[in-house]
Amino acid sequence: MKRDFVSLTGFSKDEISEIFELSGWLKEQPRPDYRPLAGKSAALIFEKPSLRTHVSFQVGISQLGGDAIFLSQENIGLSMRESVRDAAEVLSRYNDLIIARTMAHRTVEELAAHSSVPVINALTDRLHPCQILADAFTLRERGLLSEGAKIAFIGDGNNVVNSWLELAGVIPIHFVLACPEKYQPDPDILMLAKAAKISRIEIVRDAYAAAEDADVLYTDVWVSMGQEGERCAREAAFKNYQVNAKLLREASPRCLVMHCLPAHRGEEITADVLEGEHSIVMEQAENRLHVQKAIIAHLLEEGQPEREDRRTFSRVLEG
Ligand code: CP
Ligand code: NVA
Repeated sequence: MKRDFVSLTGFSKDEISEIFELSGWLKEQPRPDYRPLAGKSAALIFEKPSLRTHVSFQVGISQLGGDAIFLSQENIGLSMRESVRDAAEVLSRYNDLIIARTMAHRTVEELAAHSSVPVINALTDRLHPCQILADAFTLRERGLLSEGAKIAFIGDGNNVVNSWLELAGVIPIHFVLACPEKYQPDPDILMLAKAAKISRIEIVRDAYAAAEDADVLYTDVWVSMGQEGERCAREAAFKNYQVNAKLLREASPRCLVMHCLPAHRGEEITADVLEGEHSIVMEQAENRLHVQKAIIAHLLEEGQPEREDRRTFSRVLEG
């Protein structure tokens, strides 16, 4: 049966560990002869702009030996020129994989429901699972993916936060969100993450309380794609939720600063912090490539390198 990657729920801790092992192997031992997508193609549907997600998928698919076909909303008119269902069925007959960034989360769910090939969520208004898996891999490389490391997210309870919460329902972490009351994460996702009783999850109003002794400070834009009409209200609501040098002083001295990018200097983060010595934003961006290649190989369950080979390598990475 085909497997989708629409959200992190449904993926076990062991399965995520396997994806991380493969990501590490792909990152540190790139082998030109590892081409599990040889003779295969992927359709990349993008209803919204993208730099990292588009390029990392396109390059990653090419490195795995496959072809990527980029389809903008302008080209295909999903839900307008034709139904999501028809597009899913047609694309499944030409391709081995569908990767989709859509406005509404239900569009990716509908693509998955009607396609006979795996569908990967490349961001929706609700979730950004590829981003969070790559971020978790980045923290794992730094020895900070554990319940003992405090991840403080400062800002909007948006798609990125929702995916962090989904991860918290599978992998033990300590996640503290500081957000205005009006901009909380999805209540169902929060409820499920808390009910899993796997992670320590806190929601506070005060950014300084969240940042206290944090091992990681994470932020994202105040105005996500599709919310441009709310800019004025959001700028006012988030003015006390900026990651800056003063906030960083509250955190652990070795605190790492993360941002999924694109960043808006002077809004959710200051330039000195984004570009400073605590920042690992470019590591995060690079890891999108390695982790997404691993997700694809995992979903297609083909051409996997020897498991022991990957485990051995993973142990080396973890020291
Ligand atoms: N972080 C991220 O998804 O970036 P893009 O929107 O540029 O793809
Ligand atoms: N929350 C942001 C993430 C961008 C990668 C957005 O949806 O625009």
